[in-house]
Amino acid sequence: MKTLGSLMLLAILVWGCSKSTSPAATEAAFSKYEDSEGKSVFREKCGKCHRYKLPETHTASSWPGIVDKMARKAKLSDDQKAAVLAFVTKHAKAS
Ligand code: HEC
Repeated sequence: MKTLGSLMLLAILVWGCSKSTSPAATEAAFSKYEDSEGKSVFREKCGKCHRYKLPETHTASSWPGIVDKMARKAKLSDDQKAAVLAFVTKHAKAS
């Protein structure tokens, strides 16, 4: 029950903060993904010009084209780009 309680609290927090870009809201939004290089690059670079477009907002087949374009905008190195692509395709929308 304790876990369920914290999950519900988290859900309320995520919901309540979804209109802001506070660090707590960002933390909550990203806590569902396991830590990886791609996740940290994404967090650092991909929320600067627009709100985060999270992995599940696009399909695995559309991400490569988008990341290509965005990597240039975000000035990612080849390694960072590959890491971000792996991160977003792994958690991409099903279809
Ligand atoms: C320098 C600013 C900038 C940065 C940094 C940036 N973006 Fe974007 N992004 C844009 C702009 C502007 C658009 C909308 C116009 C367009 O598609 O070019 C956009 C659009 C998008 C879209 C919607 C594309 C579509 O076709 O629906 C996604 C997804 C996206 N960005 C993801 C990312 C990711 C992932 C990163 C990090 C690698 C990132 N962006 C970094 C400026 C940026």
